[in-house]
Amino acid sequence: MTGGNHTSGNAAIRLTGIDKSFSNAGEPLAVLGGIDLTVAQGAIVALLGASGSGKSTLLNIVAGLIQADRGEVCLQGAASSEFNDWQRLSYMFQEDRLLPWRSTLRNIEFALEAGSMANAERRRRAREVLQLVDLGAFEKAFPYQLSGGMRSRVALARSLVTEPAILLMDEPFSRLDALTRAQMHDEILRIHRAKPLTILFVTHDVEEAVVLADQVAVVSPRPATIRATINIELARPRDPTQAEVTRYIQRLRDLI
Ligand SMILES: Nc1ncnc2c1ncn2[C@@H]1O[C@H](COP(=O)(O)OP(=O)(O)OP(=O)(O)O)[C@@H](O)[C@H]1O
Ligand SMILES: [Mg+2]
Repeated sequence: MTGGNHTSGNAAIRLTGIDKSFSNAGEPLAVLGGIDLTVAQGAIVALLGASGSGKSTLLNIVAGLIQADRGEVCLQGAASSEFNDWQRLSYMFQEDRLLPWRSTLRNIEFALEAGSMANAERRRRAREVLQLVDLGAFEKAFPYQLSGGMRSRVALARSLVTEPAILLMDEPFSRLDALTRAQMHDEILRIHRAKPLTILFVTHDVEEAVVLADQVAVVSPRPATIRATINIELARPRDPTQAEVTRYIQRLRDLI
């Protein structure tokens, strides 16, 4: 299935029959029970589901941090085991994971330190993404000197500085107040318009899913499957008070 107007000759992410169990107190706990999901190039896809249903586990599998027991992960048309462009996959965790002893700018540079990029170039790019999230004036500030929303923007900048082709986000804005969250939504959509970027993100928030996504994948309770995928066929920006938007929200609430 493809999202919105995007076509998927070569999907950015393709998951087929993903199973994953953990062990809990000596008993197997089946978390993912056959996940099939295709995220088209350039699409924004939301994973929506109850707490504990396995959404973070699924993102961890896509990011290569844990292995599925069964099934296939394809990234940009290559099996995960053959994929060699991990630098261009970014993962924005739910917690901002900023390094407290580093300034804003140095936190962002950190994402580029694994490569062989010259210091000056690293700095130039870090400054550029900091401007993008509107924090150019705060490059010297340390994380404790920033508000929660600003810290989220730094984490977003850090995940963008590597110029990812794929961006995974795990409830990136769930701890922000409604106003800051709405600003972050605008920010994400602006960045997505400006750069070729595929986004797969997890949310509990039905409204957030409908405002941002081309397609919403509803995750069932454990062992998780994709219960439904709903294409959101509405122009952007989407105002959550619009009747068409509230209709999608209601439809998704009924599915959860
Ligand atoms: N490393 C692990 N070892 C054992 N069990 C795990 C591990 N990671 C996750 N689990 C279990 O897998 C299930 C799914 O966890 P997961 O974090 O993927 O859920 P989630 O959908 O992201 O939930 P939430 O919305 O609350 O973040 C939970 O029951 C959790 O206890
Ligand atoms: Mg989670």
